[in-house]
Amino acid sequence: MTKRIIVTLPGDGIGKTVLNETIRMLDAAGFKADYVEGDIGWEFWKKEGNPLPERTIKLIEKFKIGLFGAITSKPKDEATAELAPELQNKGLIYSSPIVGLRQHFNLDICVRPCKTYKGNPLNFIRRTSDGGFEEPQVDVVIFRQNTEGLYGGVEWSNPPDKVYDALMTHPKFVKNFGNVPRDELSVSTRIFSKKATERILRAAFDYARKYGYKSVTVCEKPNVIRETSGMMFKMAKEINNADYPDIELWNTNIDAQMMWLTKNPENYGVIVAGNMFGDIVSDGFAGLIGGLGFACSAQFSADGIGVFEPTHGSAPKYADYEVSIVNPIAMMESACMMLDFINENEKAQRIRKAISEVIADGKVKTYDMMKMSGRPDVIHKGAASTEQMTDAIISNFA
Ligand code: NAI
Ligand code: MG
Repeated sequence: MTKRIIVTLPGDGIGKTVLNETIRMLDAAGFKADYVEGDIGWEFWKKEGNPLPERTIKLIEKFKIGLFGAITSKPKDEATAELAPELQNKGLIYSSPIVGLRQHFNLDICVRPCKTYKGNPLNFIRRTSDGGFEEPQVDVVIFRQNTEGLYGGVEWSNPPDKVYDALMTHPKFVKNFGNVPRDELSVSTRIFSKKATERILRAAFDYARKYGYKSVTVCEKPNVIRETSGMMFKMAKEINNADYPDIELWNTNIDAQMMWLTKNPENYGVIVAGNMFGDIVSDGFAGLIGGLGFACSAQFSADGIGVFEPTHGSAPKYADYEVSIVNPIAMMESACMMLDFINENEKAQRIRKAISEVIADGKVKTYDMMKMSGRPDVIHKGAASTEQMTDAIISNFA
C-alpha cells in the first residue's frame, strides 16, 4: 500500500510544538505517512505579505488533507507595521489564513467533538441535591455551518443606496430604523442557503447514525429568527422524516441551550447549528471537558478536503519557553479525527485509549490540568511538559 501524504501546517507559536509532538505520537502509534510542510502564518505575512501563500494552497489541493497547528493573527494596523521594509506601502492588507483556507476550499462543515475523559481534573462537576457532586459524562459532537450566516462577511456601515433602498422595503426596518441617519447604521447579514444548510444537516445525521448517537439537536432560534433558523429547523424535520427516522430530532434555542449547558449536558448527542451559534455552543461544551487543551476540530469541503486542527491559537507567550508546557491533547485529538476521515479508525481508537489511560492514571498532567497559570516554573511544581505528556501517551501503546 502506498503511504499517505499529509500536508502539515505548523503555523506559529505553540502550533509548531503541538504538531511536532503529534507527529511523533502518530508515528509511535504505527501510523506511517509522508508529511509535506505547508507554509502558513505570521512569518509568511511578514516576509512575503501573504500568510497563506499560493504554494500552500496548491499542496492542500493536491493531497487533500491538512493537519494544522495554529497561527498568530493581529489587527490590521499592527500587521502592516510588521511587514518587511520592502513590502511596506504596497497596500497589502492582512487577512486571516484560517478564513482564507475556509473560503478557498469552501470548508463548509466544521465538526467539534466534546467528550469527557474520566479523571480529567478539568471536568465540569455538578452539585447534587444531597450536597454531594457528580461528574456528567459529556459526549457531544457539534456540527457548525462554517461559511455562511453572521460570519459570512456580507455587511455594511453606512449602507449604499441599493442596500438601503432594499432595506426600506421591509416594514420592520422602516418602523425601527427608518428615521436613523444612514451613516449611523451598521448592517451585518445572516444569510443561509438551502444547499449549505442541507449539507450540514445531513452531515450531522450521518454522523449520528454512524457513531450511534440517538439524537440530533438543531440549536438555533427559530421562534425569533424565523427565516434562517426557521428554514434550518424545517429542513431538519424533512430530512429526519425522509431519511433518518431512526434518529430523534430535537430543537433547542441557543440561549436556553447555554443555560442548560451545565444542567444536563450529558443528555445531548449531535448538535447542529449555523455559523455563529455553532461557534458559541461548541466553545460552551468545550469548557465542560477541559477547555482549550482538549478542544479539537475538523473542517470538510464537499469535494473531499479535510483540515484538522485544535481550536486553540498560537499562545505566543508560551512559544519560546525552553521547555514547552502546553497540552498537546487537543492537537492529538484532531489528528484522531484525521485518522477517522481516512478510515484508520483502529489507530484513532488506539490513540484515544492511550490518552484516556494517561488521564485516568492521573500521574502525568500538563499545567492546565493542574489549574496553574502558565509559567516556566510549572515544570518544577510538578506539571508535565508537552514532551512528557506525549511520552506518557506513547508509553501506553502496547
Ligand atoms: P490562544 O488559544 O492562543 O491562548 C489562550 C490561552 O489558552 C493561553 O494563554 C493558554 O493559557 C491557553 N492555551 C491555549 N492553548 C493551550 C494548550 N494547548 N495547552 C494549554 N493551554 C493552552 O488564544 P489567544 O491568546 O487569544 O491568541 C493568541 C494568538 O493565537 C493570537 O494571535 C490569535 O489571533 C491566534 N489564534 C489562532 C487560532 C487558530 O490558529 N485557530 C485560534 C485562536 C487564536
Ligand atoms: Mg470560537
